Amino acid sequence: MEKSKVLIVGGTGYLGKRLVKASFTEGHETYVLHRPEIGVDIEKVQMLLSFKAQGAHLVASSFEDHWSLVEALKLVDVVICAISGVHIRSHQILLQLKVVDAIKEAGNVKRFLPSEFGTDPSRMENAMEPGRVTFDDKMVVRKAIQEAGIPFTYVSANCFAGYFLGGLCQPGLILPPTDSINLLGDGNQKAIYVDEDDIATYTIKTIDDPRTLNKTLYVRPPQNILSQREVVQIWERLIAKQLHKSAISEEQFLASMKGKDYAEQVGLTHYFHVCYEGCLTNFGIGDEGAEASKLYPEFKYTNVEDYLKRYI
Ligand SMILES: NC(=O)c1ccc[n+]([C@@H]2O[C@H](COP(=O)([O-])OP(=O)(O)OC[C@H]3O[C@@H](n4cnc5c(N)ncnc54)[C@H](OP(=O)(O)O)[C@@H]3O)[C@@H](O)[C@H]2O)c1
Repeated sequence: MEKSKVLIVGGTGYLGKRLVKASFTEGHETYVLHRPEIGVDIEKVQMLLSFKAQGAHLVASSFEDHWSLVEALKLVDVVICAISGVHIRSHQILLQLKVVDAIKEAGNVKRFLPSEFGTDPSRMENAMEPGRVTFDDKMVVRKAIQEAGIPFTYVSANCFAGYFLGGLCQPGLILPPTDSINLLGDGNQKAIYVDEDDIATYTIKTIDDPRTLNKTLYVRPPQNILSQREVVQIWERLIAKQLHKSAISEEQFLASMKGKDYAEQVGLTHYFHVCYEGCLTNFGIGDEGAEASKLYPEFKYTNVEDYLKRYI
């Protein structure tokens, strides 16, 4: 089967650049949206040029220019959007409604993967303020996609390893400590950690796969479904040292959010749902979904121990 041509929107982002790389690696003709709003962001320009040097087609288009988006979409079969959606960086999820409008107009797109890549928003209808905005906005985009009859795959990638493993699941920390650790609650709630490069690879593997058409791809590498305590134990083994442990109760955690700025509060509520409530692991995958490591068993994903080795 001929491999789909892919357009990556948000290709210079934290996940987006990995999607571009994975798309090359998996042998897809790869297009990357190049927005004029990039201005004099020299890092982004250099990154786009390096994509071009590796064979990507840069497509000039703006979210502010509907027809330029339509023209860009007409070049490809599959569109993957990795637009920003982390408040401490930037949150532009609803801008994707413009992509949805352009996909409707273009009429040729065989599959759209919107910027999701985290907790399944359809399971977060009872999420806390203010962090629920992430899930609510992603659901608005889903509704628009489905109302327009656009074929889709949603990727629920669980915890980006860099954010969650980096700080051993402590919010606001992305480097592992060597002396002490704050456990969230009893530290026994299971979460799922995925190397961002692996998220990109699974995402690209799924785009031509009929088994994930109009479904959610859940990324649940079995070795990486661990509690915070288990993650800490792996780190302690790697550094051959025990960390001093303190526990933060639910009440203390929620109280600590007061007075923090909005973006931090959004992130903290996400940690609360993951690490205190277990929102990533408290459900089974039904007919509306499929699990990545089962679909693509030949792909050797990075386990938590190997991921953490880079910090030693
Ligand atoms: N599960 C997790 O732990 C986790 C962690 C982080 C992120 N995520 C999710 O992953 C997705 C991508 O997040 P990210 O952190 O990779 O994003 P990011 O690096 O913050 O941004 C990605 C790209 O979005 C585009 N963008 C930003 N502002 C824009 C604007 N005003 N108009 C048009 N495009 C704009 C830019 O691409 P260009 O300049 O190239 O157009 C940017 O490089 C989001 O859905 C997020 O929620 C999940």
